[in-house]
Amino acid sequence: MFELIRRDGLARIGKLETPHGQLETPALLPVVNPRLVTVPPRELYDVFGFRALITNSYIIRNDPKLNAKAMEVGLHEMLDFPGVIMTDSGTFQSHMYGEVELRNEDIVNFQRDIGTDIGTVLDIFTEPEWSKEKTSQAVDVTMERTIEAADLKGNMLLAGVVQGSVYEDLREDCAHRLALVDVDVHPIGGVVPLMEQYRFAELVDVIVASKKGLDPSRPVHLFGAGHPMVFALAALLGCDMFDSASYAKFARDDRFMFPEGTASLSDMKGVHCHCPACQSHPYEEIASMKPAERAALIARHNLWVSLEEVQRIKRAILEGDLWELVERRCRAHPALLSALRRLAKHKEYLERFEPLSRDNSLLYTGPETLNRPVFLRYEKRFFERYKYPETEVMVAFEEAGKPYARHYQKEMADVMETCDAHFFVASPIGAVPIELDEMYPVAQSLFPEPHDQQTLERIREQMEHLSHEHPYALGVAWDGQATIDTLNMMCQKKPSFDIDLARVRAVSDYQFGKGAADLLLDGEVVLKKSETTGKIRNVLVDGEHILSMRANDGFFTLRPPGAMRLKKGFPAPKLRVTVKDDSIPFNREGKNVFCAFVTECDPEVRPMDEVMVVDQKDELIALGRAILTRDEMFSFRTGIAVKVREGIKL
Ligand code: GUN
Ligand code: ZN
Repeated sequence: MFELIRRDGLARIGKLETPHGQLETPALLPVVNPRLVTVPPRELYDVFGFRALITNSYIIRNDPKLNAKAMEVGLHEMLDFPGVIMTDSGTFQSHMYGEVELRNEDIVNFQRDIGTDIGTVLDIFTEPEWSKEKTSQAVDVTMERTIEAADLKGNMLLAGVVQGSVYEDLREDCAHRLALVDVDVHPIGGVVPLMEQYRFAELVDVIVASKKGLDPSRPVHLFGAGHPMVFALAALLGCDMFDSASYAKFARDDRFMFPEGTASLSDMKGVHCHCPACQSHPYEEIASMKPAERAALIARHNLWVSLEEVQRIKRAILEGDLWELVERRCRAHPALLSALRRLAKHKEYLERFEPLSRDNSLLYTGPETLNRPVFLRYEKRFFERYKYPETEVMVAFEEAGKPYARHYQKEMADVMETCDAHFFVASPIGAVPIELDEMYPVAQSLFPEPHDQQTLERIREQMEHLSHEHPYALGVAWDGQATIDTLNMMCQKKPSFDIDLARVRAVSDYQFGKGAADLLLDGEVVLKKSETTGKIRNVLVDGEHILSMRANDGFFTLRPPGAMRLKKGFPAPKLRVTVKDDSIPFNREGKNVFCAFVTECDPEVRPMDEVMVVDQKDELIALGRAILTRDEMFSFRTGIAVKVREGIKL
């Protein structure tokens, strides 16, 4: 069983239960060739701290000595590795060297009998240049074999491989069919040629297509992804496990792996690496070592660097800034930059998993940042949900210091002395009504000065879009006193814009959906502000505290009377997570909602969204924040679906 512990978009920290204990993901599994051990498994465990490795059952089975030993003492004792052992099936070997006699049934039984923790189906490796027809037939065979293997697996976890070459529809279909079979881990296979040929953009398409079809509660392994420069990107797309044979292969060719790319010893002028393997070995010493000794050192270097990158990714998932890490990593090579750009094609899909907000500010690293799903979300929600205030005039300011309302305080006051105006800021996030200036990511984002061409273009596009949509009688770009003079001549109406009320309205609609503000604010509205910051803290309507505004991201937390208003106005399942009866007493006490108890959920819920926990009769049980999307809540059997903040006591 796999449990999600933390997430950042599709990337996740999880725990996979195996016969040899829990494996924390993301995890890198070094490939151990049982006939050619570069770094002994015991050292991988004790010195490096690897908790899982992958080896090849086909090689063991074909070697009479290894075969006998494995059958006698089991795989773990044979390799002297106490952690999780995954085995591959020989697909790659039979594909490369044309092995004919290998049968799926035999290799699956063998893996189970030698005590593998995670065994692999004998899938058919689908090459990128294969025709669609040939690929489709191969996928069918892989599926038959997966179904056969599921019956044979016993206590072993089974890896069912997604194939389908570069055909996204075949990948998604294969993944979808695999999701219906009783397997435990999903490697994405047939991608080694793409990685070897630096076809990373196609790799992105393949991973996304596979993820779309798979069951989210099963870990995904990227087969043959051994270079640390792709780990961050793969993790961002939801890959939980990697395996590396490259560390040893590269080492034999005197090649050092880094997250920034590969460096050949012959090209290097020095080894400025502080990993435990390189430390205290000057470049000259490494260069003059005997080849085998040098390969042993470089292999260890490659492992340390890969391990460190996995740890770096974990940290990014915890801190919520994996996008920034990926964008930096993808500048290591133009082919990776192509892959980063390819993410734009998938932003609609990625947006479903993007959290409402995060702890860190959004940092612009380059034009590709503009393709992040959070920009798409802003654009969509603004144009679909925003209700314009009924002023006569709209004045658009250039982007400036944040928060915008404070920066433009004087200008706004001057304009409002002259006419009935509302204000926008032309920001890279989009066209930002002045009252949304404290909401994530408007306030919590940093862009370089001056803006680059792509950012200027985005601002222009967004403002152009606004100019077609807005209902104001007059829209003008702020130009100092000249603007005041113009407005003086053309407008007479008294100012009506109240930024505080507008803020509550705009955030409500953005966060909870179109029309939420009307439902929430029907009555006499009183806003309580912080004495120190002057920011809105609490919203009261007809004397009831309905919302609290969070200082860090400018979004609301729902109070029970506010939730009741939304529930009355929005039909189920909107903004709701429905739970089974057995869960109710716990949630009323303020305990979290676990996946197993969820019976329905709003498909529009995003991670970190405020949700109402309700019972089968749509009675309010608790309030909290969703950790998972609807599909994830349904598919995970364990773990938290909603972090409850407040139970509604009877
Ligand atoms: N190792 C690298 N790629 C693959 C693959 O597609 N299938 C299997 N079984 N092993 C692999
Ligand atoms: Zn090193």
